[in-house]
Amino acid sequence: MEKIRTLRGFRDILGEELGKFRDIEEAFRKYSTRLGFRQIELPILEKTELFVRTIGDATDIVEKEMFTFIDAGGDSLSMRPEATAGMVRSYLQEGLYATERLTKVCTIGPMFRHERPQKGRYREFHQIDVEVFGVKEPLIDAELIFMIRMFLDELDISRYHIEVNSVGCKTCRESFRGILLEFFATRKSELCEDCLRRLEKNPLRIFDCKNQQCIRVTADSPLLFNSLCDECRDHFDLFQKYVTGFGIKIEVNKRLVRGLDYYTKTVFEITSDDLGAQKAFMAGGRYDDLVEEMGGPATAGIGFAVGVERLAMLMPQKTEEPVRECFFACIGDRAHDYLILLLKACSSEGIPLKYSYEAKSLKAQMRYADNLKCDLVLILGDDEIEKNIVTLRDMTGKNQEELPLNIDHIISVLKNRLSP
Ligand code: HAM
Repeated sequence: MEKIRTLRGFRDILGEELGKFRDIEEAFRKYSTRLGFRQIELPILEKTELFVRTIGDATDIVEKEMFTFIDAGGDSLSMRPEATAGMVRSYLQEGLYATERLTKVCTIGPMFRHERPQKGRYREFHQIDVEVFGVKEPLIDAELIFMIRMFLDELDISRYHIEVNSVGCKTCRESFRGILLEFFATRKSELCEDCLRRLEKNPLRIFDCKNQQCIRVTADSPLLFNSLCDECRDHFDLFQKYVTGFGIKIEVNKRLVRGLDYYTKTVFEITSDDLGAQKAFMAGGRYDDLVEEMGGPATAGIGFAVGVERLAMLMPQKTEEPVRECFFACIGDRAHDYLILLLKACSSEGIPLKYSYEAKSLKAQMRYADNLKCDLVLILGDDEIEKNIVTLRDMTGKNQEELPLNIDHIISVLKNRLSP
């Protein structure tokens, strides 16, 4: 019979990779708590309209990449492709804007995008998402970069670039739109079909196109960065000054665009040349209009997301200290009853104990202990019970000794012998 496998772009996460995921989560918790973030859990499924209105209907994510379906009640639902949309919805739905002046929240979980799978690009992937509502000052932009830096230091990741840009506000974008339309007017024939549509709907999206021909055209185009209004320019200058104050090196990439429409002013991507084609492993920026556009009061917002799979790929391999373990070989019913007693005591003392679930001969159990690479074996059979002892064999030296059959004594010997 044919075996059922995971869907394309969906993966089981186990072993060393799962260990890295846990380390990433732990390092993140340390710094997010230190900087005052609290964690929230968001639903995976939301109304499709939420993503259309936040991410933008002309973006690749909304146009081509969402897992969308109509439910039994006739509503269009989508698996979340990212977390910012849900965070904004939650901020409004829970009325946080009315109760706190500043909201720092984060979440961790799976996201879903129907992209062409390749190394570092999956259809189900995980993000750590961080959002701050209520601060328009550029100090928070710099603080987030500082947080990223501390987090990466903790994970021993040092080879990366922090690329930053400003995508301006509505005012600078409106005046730049005219400049851009004028530029593309003479180059229309070189654009792909998608970009011709983007030209009508949102010409800035053309910068996000992966088509080589379109990339060649945009290489010659004027840049939004050079048309920033005074307020956006001041914001960017201060952001740069603060980041430098934190002692962090950033690189201004005037061509950096993001694949989501909600951004204003500061945007950034953390990239690594060690990742291959998908080199951004964290990304984010400011979205000062989004809360209001979604029906809330005018509230500045900024955040970023960590691509956990890509970050795990950058983490150095761990050299795990081998754990010393003990095997309990018991022969006969009376000895087997002792197993439960020993297991209970070992578990409460944090001592890992291995044993056989089946009643096997002593020889078979010793072979099993050897296969499991246990360092110590406790042997209990009828003879030992008669003498009120247990035999302790050291598997490395192959020498053995007798211990009194007393649970407290056995536990203290095991603790002593198993400590690294
Ligand atoms: P994004 O750039 O779409 O931004 O995604 C952030 C990160 O998620 C990427 O840099 C990448 O590491 C990872 N990622 C994205 N797609 C995939 C994929 N198919 N497979 C593996 N990893 C992937 C956002 O999602 C924004 N919500 C970030 C943000 C938060 N902006 C403000 N607040």
